[in-house]
Amino acid sequence: MSNFRTDPEIQKLCDSYGDWFQNGCENKAGNAARMTRDLYPYTSIFSPIRVNRLTIKNRVVMAPMGNLMMAEEHGRPNEKMIQYFLARAKGGVGLLTSGLIPISDGIDNTVQETDHKVMMPRISPARTLMSGWRDLAQGCHAYGSRFFIQLTPGLGRVGPPTCLVQRHKFPVSASFNPNFYIPELPCLRLTDHSLNKIIKNAGQAAADAKACLIDGVYLHGHEGYLLEQMTNKAFNHRKLGKYADWQRFGIDMVKEIRSRVGPNYPIMYRIDLSLALNETYGETAMDSVNSLKKFKGGRSIAQTLEYMENLIKAGVDLFDVDIGCYDNWWLPHPPAGMPAGCFLEVSKIVKDHFEKKGIKSNAGVPVPVVAVGKLGYPDVSEKALRDGMCDMVMLGRPLLADPEWCNKAFAGDVDKICPCIGCQEGCVNEFVEGGHIQCAVNARTGFEDVIPETPAPAQKPKRIGVIGGGPAGVIFAVNAARRGHTVELIERTDKLGGRIVPGSVPAIKFDIANYLQWLNNQVKEAQKLPNFTLKMNTSVDSAYLAEQKYDSVVFAMGTKNACPPIPGLDKVKSVQAVDLLAHPELMGDAKKIVVCGGGVVGCETAYWLHYEYGKDVKVIEMMKNFMEGVCTANRGHLLHYMKDKVELINCARVTSFEPGKVHYNRNVSKGVPNPYNTWQPLLPENIGNPLEKKLGSETQDFTADADLIVLAMGGRPDDALYVEALQHNAAPEIFNIGDSFAGGRVLEANRAAFRLSQRI
Ligand SMILES: Cc1cc2nc3c(=O)[nH]c(=O)nc-3n(C[C@H](O)[C@H](O)[C@H](O)COP(=O)(O)O)c2cc1C
Ligand code: SF4
Repeated sequence: MSNFRTDPEIQKLCDSYGDWFQNGCENKAGNAARMTRDLYPYTSIFSPIRVNRLTIKNRVVMAPMGNLMMAEEHGRPNEKMIQYFLARAKGGVGLLTSGLIPISDGIDNTVQETDHKVMMPRISPARTLMSGWRDLAQGCHAYGSRFFIQLTPGLGRVGPPTCLVQRHKFPVSASFNPNFYIPELPCLRLTDHSLNKIIKNAGQAAADAKACLIDGVYLHGHEGYLLEQMTNKAFNHRKLGKYADWQRFGIDMVKEIRSRVGPNYPIMYRIDLSLALNETYGETAMDSVNSLKKFKGGRSIAQTLEYMENLIKAGVDLFDVDIGCYDNWWLPHPPAGMPAGCFLEVSKIVKDHFEKKGIKSNAGVPVPVVAVGKLGYPDVSEKALRDGMCDMVMLGRPLLADPEWCNKAFAGDVDKICPCIGCQEGCVNEFVEGGHIQCAVNARTGFEDVIPETPAPAQKPKRIGVIGGGPAGVIFAVNAARRGHTVELIERTDKLGGRIVPGSVPAIKFDIANYLQWLNNQVKEAQKLPNFTLKMNTSVDSAYLAEQKYDSVVFAMGTKNACPPIPGLDKVKSVQAVDLLAHPELMGDAKKIVVCGGGVVGCETAYWLHYEYGKDVKVIEMMKNFMEGVCTANRGHLLHYMKDKVELINCARVTSFEPGKVHYNRNVSKGVPNPYNTWQPLLPENIGNPLEKKLGSETQDFTADADLIVLAMGGRPDDALYVEALQHNAAPEIFNIGDSFAGGRVLEANRAAFRLSQRI
């Protein structure tokens, strides 16, 4: 008999995340989804709360975000990590939490690298490690903030397969589950002996945390990591031994911790109310996709609530709740396209349950419920608290984008809060690809140890011309002016923002619209300085530059659209995606639209055309996969909600156009991947999947009807004027930053602009 089952509340949420902007599923930031300050003063956000015996000064929790590559090779938190946290403590956060800290060395093979080197910090009684944690905890206390450490039994099936590829050690899990990255790779079943050892390690780590003056421990029980693999029937298929009881591992771990730290030390637990796999994929996919089949029997809401009650009896004082796991990664890592406050209904279910049953912790106080997920809009968080949707709000990426979020919200300076744009370029993707946390809109994030918060005034103020008012030009110009340089920012159009102006048009890009507003606010502020001038609708050429005799010229001219010479393009109605976004009237009465190019611009445009204009859309892409290089969560969200709506055609090359038609040649061999596959990530090129199906060479010609062709084939740097300026020696210093150097992403543009502004 099938064990497929869904929860109606979770189903409703999952169904809403594709078209929330049109179906009355209100974006909690209001339909316009802007950074507003209607509920100021934020008396609920900034009221203290008690957790066990600990008082936290406000309701803001900094979400755990993996401190990968922020530790010395043996695991001591390094200066980068300490300064990163202290910037958020100084910014006014009530409770900070570390990213996941493994306690399963020698058991979970995915948490170590070769030669026992570690990529995440560790905690142990060794003084070489403890000193780092003590500096960190003491530093937070000096700002009046609390600090919890997030302990993880490990990654299990969601750990990188490099342990096998590089060290010939298998990943492990509760049962013989498939590895997430390479599903053909089985994980070995952990023995009870190893699991008992992890529980002992948790107790020891908690005792060490207490000794390091850390204010509480936090268990990493969500998103399908090893703790959840043990405590969710989707992953725990054990028939023998004590851990065949799916609640046992978590409960024993909490009891062990409690026995080591005494009754007053706070224990927090992170849980998902549901994996939401059945609700995401439906019965057919859950029955037919090999890597999902095993996971149909996940905890229901009722089972999760029962488990939470048992965890409280064992000693838990505080929970935070979300939904989803790796196999539907856009849920636990909600990208740009997900609505603000996307999991408030989830925390409300838990809060109502606790209240209805009068549940208290062993300390005799109510167990607060923390909500998470796109809560960086002060009005949304304040309303959630006032409406009783949660007791605390957890902010992750909003605090990467702006560490001063709390101080600014408290002061009512909402228009000064730099909003997260949901891109996950600098945060998630950076460490997936081998780095540490950064942020696309805040170039100091992850570099607090080397970039001072307040830059030194310019020693020798210069006259600087900045050509181009996209993100790179604006960030450079504003910051250079603040340092005392005389800056002229010149933009050829009537709008600042460059590519993010069209990029902010789709409803699912409301975060980018907020960022655009913030950039404009920054310029408005800078215009109050006597040394800052803005010139709009102004084109610049070499003669102009020669006349101006600037000390430095900074080119930030963005990109030019690529337009490959495909036969027949001149005979059809075609438009560049960015032009169509800026001028939707150009689509006229076209019903069938073919988008050429399945990168992020092509896919977002297709999504917009389907969901906001009801068009019949196909996207043709040459590569095997759509949106290569884009964060798995962001790709997943778009791909999932385009299934059965927008036809995605991969491994295909447009060969010619004729009026009303697009001709293309497509690879039809068995190795062509399912373009809608969202349950398996794309591996970084340097890792590769040795078991991947090879792409054959069999191709076939096809024709698609098209009333309009949308070109989204990328762009090339618009650097002609820069090159000319170099050749004419137009100024003693000449720089080229942002897309006109390379990239196409806000991350690189911002980084280059900010760094140049600090050193020029
Ligand atoms: C870069 C990054 C790293 C993360 N690492 C962890 C982690 O170590 N442990 C964890 O439980 N969640 C982790 N998360 C999930 C966040 O804690 C949080 O749930 C998620 O970002 C949604 O909250 P937000 O919308 O406020 O960012 C991570 C998220 C990001 C962006
Ligand atoms: S990198 Fe992008 S998603 Fe991540 S915190 Fe910064 S703006 Fe937000």
